[in-house]
Amino acid sequence: MFDINNILRENIKNLTPYSSARDEFQGEASVYLDANENAFGSPLDEAYNRYPDPLQYNVKKRLSEIKGLPIRNIFLGNGSDEAIDILFRSFCNPGVDNVIIVPPTYGMYQVSANINDIALKRVNLTAEYQLNLEGIAEAIDKNTKIIFICSPNNPTGNSINREDVETLLANFNGLVVVDEAYINFSRQKSFIQELTEYANLVVLQTLSKAWGLAGLRVGMAFASEEIIEVMNKVKPPYNINEASQQLALKALQNVDQVNEWIKETLAQRDKLVLALKNFDFVLDIYPSDANFILVKTTDPKAIYNFLVERGIIVRDRSKVELCEGSLRITIGTPEENNILIKSLQDYK
Ligand SMILES: Cc1ncc(COP(=O)(O)O)c(C=O)c1O
Repeated sequence: MFDINNILRENIKNLTPYSSARDEFQGEASVYLDANENAFGSPLDEAYNRYPDPLQYNVKKRLSEIKGLPIRNIFLGNGSDEAIDILFRSFCNPGVDNVIIVPPTYGMYQVSANINDIALKRVNLTAEYQLNLEGIAEAIDKNTKIIFICSPNNPTGNSINREDVETLLANFNGLVVVDEAYINFSRQKSFIQELTEYANLVVLQTLSKAWGLAGLRVGMAFASEEIIEVMNKVKPPYNINEASQQLALKALQNVDQVNEWIKETLAQRDKLVLALKNFDFVLDIYPSDANFILVKTTDPKAIYNFLVERGIIVRDRSKVELCEGSLRITIGTPEENNILIKSLQDYK
């Protein structure tokens, strides 16, 4: 049985979090002399002289409407990368604990583990880019705190079989983090619906992809109230700045625009796949549930360099295990995709 107290770090269990001025007085007042801010304003058109809401209530309220989840189940991070780091710092004892990742997958799980001095166990995906459940079961030991699953997976683009993730959720007594950065592009439903079912589930999403707000750095973690409380205790007090909160809130009113772009991206993805299939240097294009495709080629480095010379940058993933020969290509605007195809017509 999962029990958060069995995996929480002792120092975090005993932590008294920083109490900010905005924590200690909530409500409206006419004179704020409690936070050592500049009372005169900001040397800008907009005023940013006041500290932002530490718990980002307005943004979470809107997200709660969109996601159909209570605010108490939502954590906001400075990008979902911050949520990943906070999970390490809350639940993993440096030099003692370990986490499981399933490569090829998103690189920050490994970097965050290394920064926090947490051992990594790597259980590669199968040749079909699915979970090796037996391998994962063998890798789990008493110090395994988190299993990271990315679905749709970066860089392969496919979704991970839902039943396999549920098997992990039901049998592992640590956290199962399902990173859904690309879920808006997927035909699969989100794991958010399973939060009431599994106390050990953490779902990560972000405003950086389909929402088009990578520059604002707003990521989300959805989990049980007790996990969210821990994450809020560990995070820096003002981790989402005021400009990002205001702009995210404004953008979150624009669901229709985002849905339109998602549709267009998927249509462009189909077109790009068809066009790329015509090239004899393209060996395989993996099925994608995301806004990018993994393309296996005869000569990834040469193609990459050829495109760079023409001002087109894709991601060379050919050195990544199980992605040999592959380039990862983000779906662009119709114009950008045409430029890519036209340029590739000149390759050899
Ligand atoms: C799978 C995955 N998770 C998380 C992130 C990071 O997202 P954010 O911009 O919210 O930190 C990325 C970014 O590429 C990603 O591919």
